[in-house]
Amino acid sequence: MNTEEQKKAAALAALDYIKPGMKVGLGTGSTANHFIAALGEKVKAGLDVLAVPTSRSTRDLATKFGIPLTDLEKHPFLDITVDGADEFNEKFELVKGGGGALLLEKIVATSSRYMVVIADESKKVSTLGRFPLAVEVIPFGVRATAWKIERAMKICGVSGSIDLRRKEGKPFKTDSGNAILDLGLGSIPHPARLSELIKSIPGVVETGIFVDICGIILMGTKDGVKTFRKA
Ligand code: A5P
Repeated sequence: MNTEEQKKAAALAALDYIKPGMKVGLGTGSTANHFIAALGEKVKAGLDVLAVPTSRSTRDLATKFGIPLTDLEKHPFLDITVDGADEFNEKFELVKGGGGALLLEKIVATSSRYMVVIADESKKVSTLGRFPLAVEVIPFGVRATAWKIERAMKICGVSGSIDLRRKEGKPFKTDSGNAILDLGLGSIPHPARLSELIKSIPGVVETGIFVDICGIILMGTKDGVKTFRKA
């Protein structure tokens, strides 16, 4: 299977975890989109679920596929969230945020009993950090927030670039109206510590490091889908 087929296979495998009546968090990104399409087919065939999207793009796609939507105001406890990841390691630690939806993704995932990650095999790494780490920040004082992040990086023994994410020449805006700083670290030996230190900086809203949130990973491989379950 090529990468796209692996993503799709993982997404289809996630359907096994969806039972009638469940409230489901819907992730963001190309792998999550495969899941939304597949779930839409099940809904068309009569499956009764309610879903909470993690971004405007996911909301639009879910609407297109006829998936009934709700929100965390009406349903603050969800049964399951199915989402992609930019990287994961064998400790079930993730880097997310490549699509800029990390904040809503983390809120929705931590409101769910289970988070199931669906991914192709290129996302599995021995050490997180090859993929730039997204940090969502308030637009006010971005440069000042950036130097404090650099200081936090030093304390954690990591170094690298800090880039303001741009889209079509303008600073990228998240669905919550914030900016994203992408940290090119190469390696993150202590993800939880780095995330906590960065999050203690005024102006930082969230980081793309997900620790102790995901319990099941469905990874598409050349030969089929491999399931990893946290003990
Ligand atoms: C969105 O902000 C991200 O967290 C995505 O879940 C992540 O980028 C994975 O995207 P793909 O499934 O497109 O690789």
